[in-house]
Amino acid sequence: TSNQMWGGRFSAGVDAIMEAINASIGFDQRMAAEDIAGSRAHAAMLAATGIVSDSDAEAMREGLLTVLSEIEAGTFEFSTQLEDIHMNVESRLKALIGEPAGRLHTGRSRNDQVATDFKLWVRGQMDAAIAGIRALQLAFLGQAEAGADWVMPGFTHLQTAQPVTWGHHMMAYVEMLGRDASRFEDARRRMNESPLGAAALAGTSFPIDREMTARELGFDRPASNSLDAVSDRDFALEFLSCASICAMHLSRFAEELVIWSSAQFRFVQLSDSFSTGSSIMPQKKNPDAAELIRAKIGRIFGANVALMMVMKGLPLAYSKDMQEDKEQVFDAADNLMLALAAMEGMVRDMSANRESLAGAAGSGFSTATDLADWCVRVLNMPFRDAHHVTGSLVAMAEAKGCDLPDLSLEEMQSVNAAITEDVFSVLTVEASVASRTSYGGTAPSEVHKQVARWKDALA
Ligand code: ARG
Repeated sequence: TSNQMWGGRFSAGVDAIMEAINASIGFDQRMAAEDIAGSRAHAAMLAATGIVSDSDAEAMREGLLTVLSEIEAGTFEFSTQLEDIHMNVESRLKALIGEPAGRLHTGRSRNDQVATDFKLWVRGQMDAAIAGIRALQLAFLGQAEAGADWVMPGFTHLQTAQPVTWGHHMMAYVEMLGRDASRFEDARRRMNESPLGAAALAGTSFPIDREMTARELGFDRPASNSLDAVSDRDFALEFLSCASICAMHLSRFAEELVIWSSAQFRFVQLSDSFSTGSSIMPQKKNPDAAELIRAKIGRIFGANVALMMVMKGLPLAYSKDMQEDKEQVFDAADNLMLALAAMEGMVRDMSANRESLAGAAGSGFSTATDLADWCVRVLNMPFRDAHHVTGSLVAMAEAKGCDLPDLSLEEMQSVNAAITEDVFSVLTVEASVASRTSYGGTAPSEVHKQVARWKDALA
């Protein structure tokens, strides 16, 4: 049978393989609600501009609602022969309302239709991502508030560097996620222009009102170049790159959770509801959710690269290659939302092991910088000399198998005679973190300020 949409030109039907490679209905049915919203706005505009009669437009708009309810109820029969969501909906509309359905596609093409649908869908996912990020920020904020003054080791190269506070470490993620959310907000603002009415590529000779459909669909304005409007997939790429950066942050914390929940670190205990056991080793409690977040992030990065590759060689305007945009974005969006939700659950439920954190905070000569700073401040030594003196004391402690505060005053003085008893006051981790009061520093007083700032911002 020849195609019911372009049967005028075609006499033979398509090969089954052609149908399989061509059809997008298997995935683009996810944009059904957006497609119907776009068509309803278009129908209202066609009537308002006198292009179709009011009664025809009313029949279309009502019929489209019926189609939507059939899809939502799961009774709609999708057909691969009808290729995509646009033609499936239109064909069903024809069956429901007859002749007026044939007037819906006036002054429009599937090229501006698909761009509109996809933009609406991506815009919704940007909003969902922002909401997911805000929820995760609140979970980190809760952890930060509870443990604003709990000491733990801060690392560089995953080697003990200087003591920091648990709250400070948690707030670092609140900052990262804050930038992630603002990136999505930015991208949303930039993408919010309506392609509808760009038609196939050149615009249309019908007296359409693009401002009206733009407004109706919550766009800020119509896109100003019809060729660009149907060719643009920047918005999907921006979604994927915002998602990639956010996912990268999630993956870094996932990696920290994997390390922190190990028997060697014991910094955190994950809740039972976000862990799994082993079928053979009874003692095991595995951080599977964190590992899966770390792994799923690869799919999001992959989607970003894949869509870049699809787009990079396409001449203007629409090419069927662009149908390959959706699955990548759908998969990336699903996995980002899942990762955000799983991370939120883990962060909310995890309990920091305050004793382990404190024990580890003092090991690895973590207050060596404090000792050097003391030499500068009290003995007026140049920092480079102080660094050298401290290095010698670390070597001495290491040889003795003890920590810096365990060295005697006499041992210290054997390296530099000017050192006094007062030095011991800066060697505890509590004194170390309390002294880091510079703006944004790890001192509990500063962490409390960061928490208060973000609580306001997120309220
Ligand atoms: N299914 C198509 C897509 O997702 C719709 C647009 C088709 N346009 C065309 N000229 N064949 O991209």
